[in-house]
Amino acid sequence: MVKVPNIAVEPPGPKAKAIIDLDTKFLATSTKASPIAIERGEGSLIWDVDGNTYLDFASGVAVLNLGHSHPAVVKAIKQQAQDFTHFAGTDYYYDVQSRLAERICSISNVPGERRVFLSNSGTESNEAALKLARWSTQRKLFISFIGGFHGRTLGSLSLTASKAVQQERYFPSMPGVTHLPFAYCYRCPYHLDYPSCDIWCAKILEELHFEDYLPSEEVAAMFMEPVQGEGGYIVPPEEFVQIMHSTCKRHGILFVDDEVQAGMARTGRMWALEHHGVVPDIMCTAKALGSGVPIGATVFRKELDWGKKGSHSNTYGGNPIACAAALVTIETIEKEGLVEQADRKGEHMRKRLGEMKAVHEIIGDVRGLGLMRAAEFVKDRRTKEPAVKERDAIEELCVRRGLVAIGCGKSGIRIIPPLNIPMELLDIGLDILEGAIRDVGRDMVR
Ligand SMILES: Cc1ncc(COP(=O)(O)O)c(C=O)c1O
Repeated sequence: MVKVPNIAVEPPGPKAKAIIDLDTKFLATSTKASPIAIERGEGSLIWDVDGNTYLDFASGVAVLNLGHSHPAVVKAIKQQAQDFTHFAGTDYYYDVQSRLAERICSISNVPGERRVFLSNSGTESNEAALKLARWSTQRKLFISFIGGFHGRTLGSLSLTASKAVQQERYFPSMPGVTHLPFAYCYRCPYHLDYPSCDIWCAKILEELHFEDYLPSEEVAAMFMEPVQGEGGYIVPPEEFVQIMHSTCKRHGILFVDDEVQAGMARTGRMWALEHHGVVPDIMCTAKALGSGVPIGATVFRKELDWGKKGSHSNTYGGNPIACAAALVTIETIEKEGLVEQADRKGEHMRKRLGEMKAVHEIIGDVRGLGLMRAAEFVKDRRTKEPAVKERDAIEELCVRRGLVAIGCGKSGIRIIPPLNIPMELLDIGLDILEGAIRDVGRDMVR
């Protein structure tokens, strides 16, 4: 019997309120999305401190691809915690770290002989890529994309261009980054239409930037998300990625694939870049790799390796508990066939979102790959004015009806349930989402 969401107390209930009060008093800068205080999670469901049950379509922002507290992950963490919790993986040796390094290298999309650097987060996986690119090419400049998100530490932040608030008062960050418009075809930055645009947004790099002001021989690397996450779940046409990739190859620029949000089976492939038919020089992963235990990994071609003791390092990278969690996460993705599950269920979700778009005017666009999908809301389909307040209202209504979903881009909602979510629960969640869209859309028309 599938358990359905059950809202006993309108969130935030009294227990959640007490937690929120304390949190507000002591916790610095917040991006809190909903007044939910979790007590327990299991699979695709969570229970809050006031006894409400929710379906989770946010997966801890694409971290819980295996669902909450997967028994195999819990077992591995417990065992490792009992054995030892820390031994500075960059200074000493232990089996679980070496085995994880071998596993990540073997499943990664980087061709040839590979090496991996372990860290604790997505931003650190990109910081490592930045430093590695400078080290190995001895070039100083970088290219990334508008709408892209690569983290918030100053190096990664300089690549990020997803929301102005993330940059406000932090300039100057790392100099030497050129941000190019991304292939966001629903809102083409050049006001062109795909495919008659002839992928101008990719060709412009060589035809304009390299010609006019950016010496390509000084560019170390290009950072790209194969599906932009925070920027709005934007899937670029594969030609865009392929042209950018071949331009990089021609100019000796390393191609860095940021799989922090889209990777680990989320899109119906182990790595989202596989959809575009190219391979990277460097690949960054984090989030779902540790199933909730912080870990980041930067995989790269062996020839790029620092090769000098102390060129880059950290204290916690390759922490044994994180390594144990990551090893069992990879094993479970394979055992449960989660790549195939994401692909199959994603196709079902694609159809359902398409049906919703056909009847709800407030939906301007639906897009995504596998179980990484989003709907973008607009006030008017012709002007495409972003329906930001309405998006927030849909998110809030979903929560009040027992569905956790989180925004992305200007006026989108991402739909990223755990990959092993039962089909019945997937449909229940989509029904709740559609109900909220219908109700908010109706109010907007009035
Ligand atoms: C594509 C991408 N890269 C990097 C990051 C930064 O990861 P973290 O928050 O773990 O530092 C994120 C986080 O959302 C992300 O989506």
